[in-house]
Amino acid sequence: MLQANLHIDPHFTVANVDDRLFSSFIEHLGRAVYDGIYCPEHPSANAAGFRQDLLDLIRPLNIPLIRYPGGNFVSGYRWEDGVGPKDQRPVRLDRAWCTLETNQVGVQEFAGWCREIGAQVMMAVNLGTRGIDDACNLLEYCNHPSGTLYSNLRISHGAPQPYGIKTWCLGNEMDGPWQVGHKTAEEYGRLAVETARAMRKIDDSIQLVASGSSFPEMPTFPQWEATVLDHVYEDVDYLSIHQYLGDTTQNLKDFLAKSLTTERFIRDVLATCDYVKARKRSQKQMMLSFDEWNLWYHSVGSDEAYRKATPWQYAPSLVEDIYTMADAAVFGTMLITILRHADRIKIACLAQLVNVIAPIMTEPKGGQAWIQSIYWPFLHASLYGRGTVLHAAVDSPRYDSKNFTDVPYLESVSIYNHEKGEVTIFAVNRSTDSDLVLKTCLDGFTQVSLIEHITMNHSDLQIVNGPGAENIRPRKASGAVVEGKTVTAALPPVSWNVLRLSVREK
Ligand code: AHR
Repeated sequence: MLQANLHIDPHFTVANVDDRLFSSFIEHLGRAVYDGIYCPEHPSANAAGFRQDLLDLIRPLNIPLIRYPGGNFVSGYRWEDGVGPKDQRPVRLDRAWCTLETNQVGVQEFAGWCREIGAQVMMAVNLGTRGIDDACNLLEYCNHPSGTLYSNLRISHGAPQPYGIKTWCLGNEMDGPWQVGHKTAEEYGRLAVETARAMRKIDDSIQLVASGSSFPEMPTFPQWEATVLDHVYEDVDYLSIHQYLGDTTQNLKDFLAKSLTTERFIRDVLATCDYVKARKRSQKQMMLSFDEWNLWYHSVGSDEAYRKATPWQYAPSLVEDIYTMADAAVFGTMLITILRHADRIKIACLAQLVNVIAPIMTEPKGGQAWIQSIYWPFLHASLYGRGTVLHAAVDSPRYDSKNFTDVPYLESVSIYNHEKGEVTIFAVNRSTDSDLVLKTCLDGFTQVSLIEHITMNHSDLQIVNGPGAENIRPRKASGAVVEGKTVTAALPPVSWNVLRLSVREK
């Protein structure tokens, strides 16, 4: 039997969890928008063409911010194509994903949809094929009250009130050779800083995100960050970070350890930010926007085949990973890693929300909606992960896999919600064959009792959910015991766990 020990105390805190760590992302890609959230033919569609049945699955996630419209898509996007009378909007070739873009959904429709789910839009501007003027025009269209060309245009499109979009991404993954309008760090840094300054003249209340590296294995990482930050450090609020994990070596123990690369990536990006800060003698601390994170590997081969064989379709099934139980556990470790860095990560967007590497799926051509295994850890984090991250002293047994050494069996984060008098521990047991007994000592609290222990596991780690087949879902575990200020719970092999405790402070 494996055993891990955890010590937490309300006096030793990391940071408050920013609500925006539970954000998500919708791109004009595959069936995310068309035949996804937007499907006028669906029986539940509202007058604007959006499926209402999906709202029942999306609303519980309590998502504060949704990044839009890309992703790679934004780097060739003309936002003007997607506003105004729908019958006058052009159909274009989307060069990022080799699909047809009908522009039936654009800024207006998406802002309306976000309002329905209670989220804000996080808007990305095209710094691939376009530049300062177009970014400013879009900002004017969205946020300027009235009396100018683009604000009056918005009003003429039926939106008298500005959308008031606060968070703006300066392009997307501009370091990637696959990006339409790919740039060197020097080229991007110059364009980003001048765009930032011009945009702030129109609305100085906005927050700006500069594009960091697409993933840690990029040959230009971390020099990309150093060069870009050299230009934009004082002019932006966040640097973006993107990462997708996958089972590339077909080695389960390696796969379960993959979030160690996320931990390393975050630390390396922060070290680069702090190096630039030191060099500039700046007082400002750069924060991170982890605006694309998830697992992505199941669909990679089939998507490449599509692009070669049958490009330029409307709403093809692209980037539709179907997630296993093992994926949900790895997803949990990534989510925990992000939460543990709440002091420097202020925005995190699960990429994406519907159909494209998504927790929520719909069957093609307006079919049934269903939820994937990864839906649950994300829901639990959003429901119970709001509060203050506590420093944790962790003592976990470790293992070596093919490519990783000293991998802790326990991955965990502890969050204290002072108002509710609750501590939540999110924990993953990486062991493939043994329970992990987690013994948590809550020093500094006077009273501790168990609200519930939620666990999610399955004897078949490759099992997936599907329409009408919810094979993977959480359940209440029994057996956790509280003795004084110590809680002991057994975490099943390869499981996602939520320990909810009611606490009183001294
Ligand atoms: O989320 C899918 C794609 O992943 C995005 O378009 C891009 O930014 C990233 O490479």
